[in-house]
Amino acid sequence: MAPAEIHRRHEHLATLIRAHDYDYYVLANPTISDQEYDRLYRELSELEKEHPDLTTPDSPTQRVGGAPVSEFKPVAHRTPMLSLDNAFSQQEVREFVARVQKLLPQETLEWTVEPKIDGLAVCLRYESGVFTVGATRGDGTTGDDITANLKTIRSIPLKLNVPQNLPLQAPHTVSPLAGSGTGGESLRPAMPALLEVRGEVFLSESGFRRLNEERVSCGDEPFENPRNAAAGSLKQLDSRIVATRPLVAVFYGLGAVDGTPLPSTQAQMLEWLRSLGFKTPDRVWHCATVQELLDAIKELDAVRRSFDYETDGAVIKLNPVPLRDRAGSTSKAPRWSIAYKYAPQQAQTVLSGITIQVGRTGALTPVAELEPVLLSRSTISRATLHNEDELRRKDIRIGDTVIIEKKGEVIPAVVRVVLEKRTGSETCFEFPRSCPACGGAVSRSVHSGETLVVARCGNPDCPAQVRGRIEHWCARGAMDIEGGGEALVSQLVAKGLVKNVADLYELTPESLSRLDRMGEKSAQNFLESVNQSKSQDLWRLVFGLGILHVGSSVAKALARRFKTLEAVGAATVETLTTTEDVGEVIAASVSRWFAIPDNQELIARLRAVGLNFGVEKLESAPGPFLGKTFVLTGTLPSLSREQASAKIEALGGKVTSSVSKKTDFVLAGSDAGSKLEKAERLGVRVIDEAQFLELCRQH
Ligand code: IVH
Repeated sequence: MAPAEIHRRHEHLATLIRAHDYDYYVLANPTISDQEYDRLYRELSELEKEHPDLTTPDSPTQRVGGAPVSEFKPVAHRTPMLSLDNAFSQQEVREFVARVQKLLPQETLEWTVEPKIDGLAVCLRYESGVFTVGATRGDGTTGDDITANLKTIRSIPLKLNVPQNLPLQAPHTVSPLAGSGTGGESLRPAMPALLEVRGEVFLSESGFRRLNEERVSCGDEPFENPRNAAAGSLKQLDSRIVATRPLVAVFYGLGAVDGTPLPSTQAQMLEWLRSLGFKTPDRVWHCATVQELLDAIKELDAVRRSFDYETDGAVIKLNPVPLRDRAGSTSKAPRWSIAYKYAPQQAQTVLSGITIQVGRTGALTPVAELEPVLLSRSTISRATLHNEDELRRKDIRIGDTVIIEKKGEVIPAVVRVVLEKRTGSETCFEFPRSCPACGGAVSRSVHSGETLVVARCGNPDCPAQVRGRIEHWCARGAMDIEGGGEALVSQLVAKGLVKNVADLYELTPESLSRLDRMGEKSAQNFLESVNQSKSQDLWRLVFGLGILHVGSSVAKALARRFKTLEAVGAATVETLTTTEDVGEVIAASVSRWFAIPDNQELIARLRAVGLNFGVEKLESAPGPFLGKTFVLTGTLPSLSREQASAKIEALGGKVTSSVSKKTDFVLAGSDAGSKLEKAERLGVRVIDEAQFLELCRQH
């Protein structure tokens, strides 16, 4: 190809991919298949590999994250990022409207109501339509430069769409405002020389759940709520890790703008942002009276749980921008806007005790034992207290009346003590200085740089840890040993039959016969499953070892990169960090684990009993399901989930957990629930086991 042609092809591919990213991540309406998308992407990145000068900062290939930084640079905001005043009652909304009316006595006021998104505020700068700098709010005047992290968020355009001429529409006509077709006069289609947009970054509810499952499975503390998870993600110094977290961004405001006329209303501004390629709040209401405002707040409350982000309020904004300028701001917040805060789902109960759970990695987690109470349709009798610092900060005592709260899907947490109900008979909880499971010494360490102090039992032989490690090894996602659940493992450990995972391979029918409720048949099945685990893939072994911070995706990356367990163990920290998804924290943890003599001995024993230490069947085989995505739901008549997944993967397909338009097949069994409904709604092909086996046989 001639250079000009190569250039044109590159531009064409980049434009196409941007448009598909927009359809998928902003509109949630993909128009091509995964394979077609992957083909375009591959062609683009190959073109850039051959002609590196074609790679621009706004190329779709620039979202994978780059080398970690040692700190974030400060960014001064050209206009301060203000906060909002709050209203907690209808009366306070009325007073707010009256206050604004007093500031603008001659004007007929009109308003918008938007969801208040519980994420992390960010400000993004675009120069001539290209994303250049993105920052956190910081103290409102100066924030942290998190550009590299923001670039990994697919719903953030790296290059803006050419603005469209907006349709002319009379104001006041649509209420509530839907996703399109609102605003006043048409805007001139000019790409602004400078545009700063402001909004929130958050983790979707499903993304939050997935991230926490992953963290727990690799021995990390789960994040307390989606907001903390988003904050923890955006503060990562390694943008390659950020790229693996399913962050989303929604925009609702402007900072500095040069070189284009400003939209004259909030509604028009949102429409403009959408046309430039940004995701904006799901619903916006347009209101002319206090009563309409109150109705909109109520309506938003009824629908807000269906959004992909958590909301804790409704933001009321004066719609016409010129009137806002006249109303002005205080140093802290604008006078023309207010956030109505919804009451969180809370309940009051008595904290009858505090127990300590010891996890697989030795982490001590205090748990509140509560008098059972009903909270958002479920009975709660335990709540997490997170860690010792949290207990102290909230001054929680046994016998206290406490407020518990549940946000979204999260485990209930103790919010605060009702001090007025203290009688004086409450007792302080002494956080144990030694492990409640083994009496071993407890030490405190700052956890993965995410400012959490975790107390850990330092005794590797602690029975709680031993149990946890063995259960983890047997888990479905690891070595998949059937029967190796809590009940059996705690007996094996209590009877001294198993001290580490290598001991599992030395169990005999005779030794198992000493356990309660263990018939000959179950013993045989268990031993059979233990034996089968010897040929599991290397990544399952790496994951099963329970190395701190090594989840299944990191284990897969390590297995893929190093091919044998010995090579993983022999790699230096530097070499380890060159592996996909592996930053310094993980690399150091892996290296530390392999340096411990007991672990070396464990590995030698596992090798001696014949475990598979090399890579096999890991890469997607180029089979007939190559590029096809499956979701499994319900119980299949003969295949287990694992067997079905193994078949799919062996034929080159992929199994994912949630249904989207990108899903090719939903394999449904009996008692299939919401996934099946969603598949039907999205028109995804649903097959049963017989059809699935037929498909497999055809190939
Ligand atoms: S407007 C000058 N709109 O809530 C007005 N803020 O508690 C600036 N927030 O600092 C904000 N959703 O970070 C606005 N729809 C929304 C919002 C929103 C969430 C955040 C924002 C703000 C904070 C105030």
